[in-house]
Amino acid sequence: MQLTLERSVVRSWRASDAESIARYANNRRIWINLRDAFPHPYSVQDAREFIRATRSRSPETTFAITVADEAVGSIGFVLHRDVERVSAEIGYWLAEPFWGRGITAEALAAVTNYAIQQHGLTRIFAVPFAWNTASCRVLEKAGYVLEARLRHSAVKDGRLTDQMQYAFIA
Ligand SMILES: CC(C)(COP(=O)(O)OP(=O)(O)OC[C@H]1O[C@@H](n2cnc3c(N)ncnc32)[C@H](O)[C@@H]1OP(=O)(O)O)[C@@H](O)C(=O)NCCC(=O)NCCS
Repeated sequence: MQLTLERSVVRSWRASDAESIARYANNRRIWINLRDAFPHPYSVQDAREFIRATRSRSPETTFAITVADEAVGSIGFVLHRDVERVSAEIGYWLAEPFWGRGITAEALAAVTNYAIQQHGLTRIFAVPFAWNTASCRVLEKAGYVLEARLRHSAVKDGRLTDQMQYAFIA
């Protein structure tokens, strides 16, 4: 898979992406905004394992965000099942040196469209922590709408937090 955008190329993961992605992923400012399944510290071995698992999955639902063919972030969605098979949850992160250039908002809009087209979805959603104003803004820029504040729904780094439920409806 490859989506050539103005600010980045979103493409399938390659084994050779492990070093760059481990370097950028090993950042507490990224980890603090993601689920605990995201390792911290983040080693090259973690990156290799992530890329191997991603490449072995079918359909392919997680992609590298690349700039000048360097992997600088990740974006992916989880397809739901059964009666919720028209829904997916989307998640993403970007290397800190690349923040604030509109890269993620553009990638999010493109992958949202890709997921809808490929999988016949009617709904894609995300649940950033309430403190993550940058992610809420990215979702709004990509056309997502705030549906709910999920009060006291998550614990991160020992802090109980609300989550902001955003959705894009096809
Ligand atoms: C959230 C994240 C993906 C944003 O990526 P990005 O490429 O910098 O996002 P964009 O440049 O497309 O847009 C960021 C927007 O948030 C705004 N923003 C950034 N920090 C902000 C803050 N502290 N408060 C309010 N707005 C903020 C920017 O001004 C920009 O909006 P604008 O274009 O209207 O000015 C990135 O910061 C990241 O990887 N964070 C850690 C992981 C994470 O939070 N993942 C999402 C989990 S739900």
